[in-house]
Amino acid sequence: MVAELLATPPCAEIHLHIEGTLEPELIFELAARNGIDLPYADLEDLRARYRFTDLQSFLDLYYSNMDVLRTEADFADMTRAYLRRAATAGVRHVEMMMDPQAHLIRGIPLETSVRGVCAVLERSEEEFGISTGLIAAFLRDRPAAEALEVLEELLAMGAPIIAIGLDSAEVGNPPSWFVELYRRAREAGLRTVAHAGEEGPPTYIVEALDLLLVDRIDHGITCLDDPALVERLVRDKIPLTICPLSNVRLQAVESLAQHPLPQMLDHGLNISVNSDDPAYFGGYVDDNFRTVQEVFGLSRAQLARLGEDSIEASFASAGRRAELL
Ligand code: HPA
Ligand code: ZN
Repeated sequence: MVAELLATPPCAEIHLHIEGTLEPELIFELAARNGIDLPYADLEDLRARYRFTDLQSFLDLYYSNMDVLRTEADFADMTRAYLRRAATAGVRHVEMMMDPQAHLIRGIPLETSVRGVCAVLERSEEEFGISTGLIAAFLRDRPAAEALEVLEELLAMGAPIIAIGLDSAEVGNPPSWFVELYRRAREAGLRTVAHAGEEGPPTYIVEALDLLLVDRIDHGITCLDDPALVERLVRDKIPLTICPLSNVRLQAVESLAQHPLPQMLDHGLNISVNSDDPAYFGGYVDDNFRTVQEVFGLSRAQLARLGEDSIEASFASAGRRAELL
């Protein structure tokens, strides 16, 4: 008998890069709108490039495709398309990262990228039933001083961010370089997250906890190489935002069957299921839930726990979390 496929539980998506939701069709539409010549013959040619060998091979395409985002309307259209799709996936709350620094260094003012995204986020609860929070992610393969400057500018302009994050190429760019950035963010009343242990060693997770004092770890799958760290993450209830399809596509794990999600559940870690960059990795949060269900045959109780853990791990107000649980 084929096992019943259970529906995606009500959940919060708390590891999502809005620029990673830029679908090929929208890339072509925005390129046409902005008079940009794309280096791809057609949609099929672009899609053929979505085969990645590691994080960097993906980042090269991700940053290149961002070039079509030029105006507030472009950022707004991308954000609206994600929320529309996320609503059908069962997402009730999203905390999305954006990379304002990546746009700034290619000549797009902070006001343009931030206002474009925020104009849509402001209406999300009413329009899509999804509450939202915005996380400004900083590029760890750029100078820490530049990140700090951009954070100061975001604060000065009153950008409605709830947290900061750290993303881009991980190996060789340790959390320890960004202590001052995170200190400043905390001083400004922001929450903090950081990618750590996606491709990098468990020591990067320890650095993110000890030096950056983060509230959550993005990915963190390499924690399993360090049993003492796993124990600490369980004891201190540090949430890890897991992105199964992303890990497979970027070859951080060999196959879905080899993904450590079941061991993480067994250890009692707080983990959530997220899509990371859904336009690039083969699916949105419901696709991620469906895939882990198919491969691991998760029980109804395990699925419900994943949904609940995502809400508990979010930065939503206590009232909103109670509403969602
Ligand atoms: N990992 C690190 N940096 C990123 C990612 C990711 O999956 N997506 C966008 N920036
Ligand atoms: Zn990510």
